[in-house]
Amino acid sequence: MWNEALMHAVEKTKGNIEKFGDLFPWTGIEGGDYKRSDHEDWTEGFWSGLLWLSYEASGDPVFREAAIRTVNSFRKRLVDFKVLDHHDIGFLYMPSAVAWWMLEEAEEAKRLGLEAAETLLKRWRPAGGYIQAWGPAGDPQNGGRIIIDCLLNIPLLYWAYEQTGDSRYRDTALAHVEKCRRFLVRGDDSSYHTFYFKQETGEPIGGGTHQGYTDGSTWTRGQAWGIYGFILSYRYTQNPLYLETSRRMAAYFIDRLPEDQVTYWDFDVPAEEGTPRDSSATAIACCGILELAGHLPEKDPDRIRFESAVHRCMKSLTENYFTSDDPEAEGLLRHGSYHVGGGMSPDDFVIWGDYFYMEALMRLVKNVPGYWYERKA
Ligand code: GLY
Repeated sequence: MWNEALMHAVEKTKGNIEKFGDLFPWTGIEGGDYKRSDHEDWTEGFWSGLLWLSYEASGDPVFREAAIRTVNSFRKRLVDFKVLDHHDIGFLYMPSAVAWWMLEEAEEAKRLGLEAAETLLKRWRPAGGYIQAWGPAGDPQNGGRIIIDCLLNIPLLYWAYEQTGDSRYRDTALAHVEKCRRFLVRGDDSSYHTFYFKQETGEPIGGGTHQGYTDGSTWTRGQAWGIYGFILSYRYTQNPLYLETSRRMAAYFIDRLPEDQVTYWDFDVPAEEGTPRDSSATAIACCGILELAGHLPEKDPDRIRFESAVHRCMKSLTENYFTSDDPEAEGLLRHGSYHVGGGMSPDDFVIWGDYFYMEALMRLVKNVPGYWYERKA
């Protein structure tokens, strides 16, 4: 079943190359076209990542050529500093430039990845002791704010440390991840989307949300970023705290799956008829849980139940959400949500959902883990 789905997804991606041209799929209306973006959001790297995954799955050079074209546009984005005053540099540059380096050791891709890491480093705020998520330094609204999504940007810093031995990358990554663990993860293993600090001193103020239901609720995609982000930090640091945090967050996630195994957009939103799902949260969690399971002993009861949950989720995504039944649909997964409270794409294709769905399929079929760390032989 997974192989068939993967081949379908690769085929659909191939058909999209010409349609998207030099633009990037962003979010879209179900049954309709993807809205395009031209390096205007945090999302463009996922199209590059889909192209690299498709290349790995099929060996078809058409994907490689298209992926390299996107990397070239990422170079221009960095030179122009276009929509880069935020922390999502890892989401942008890992599945694009760094992926190219990982697959082919292209020196120009490595250089670009390192420049991107340097850009991310500039968001470190020494007084507060964190990487600022959004906006310029000193911003009254966002200057003291961290968000859980950043855990997936941190691998760019670990990777840069591995390439250069420059301890600034490692030290910043370690300090920020520890701050996330202490302040974004709550005692019951749920999570805040964001947390505020007094930016002059780093004094903690409190948790809040941007894309979740309420300040104290658990945004499902945020929980998924946490599961995946902490296990990636474990992979790089071997700090058992991060394995444990990922494990507990994963248990929280799978214990709250609805009947069809695909999460609503927030764990605390009343689940009524018409409440939007976020299929992307489930796809991200599947990738994170598969990574986590690989770090647990084979007979560990958590590993067994986690893997079984992933199979249930992926079966439902494949049978009920994947657009394999609709050749016209540009997206792979229906019913993703970007920002329900803000009225942005509450029930749409979202390109990161497509990427993580294909990454999960690649993990299941080919044991290929995506582009968040270097694969060692
Ligand atoms: N990183 C932004 C989001 O998950 O919507």
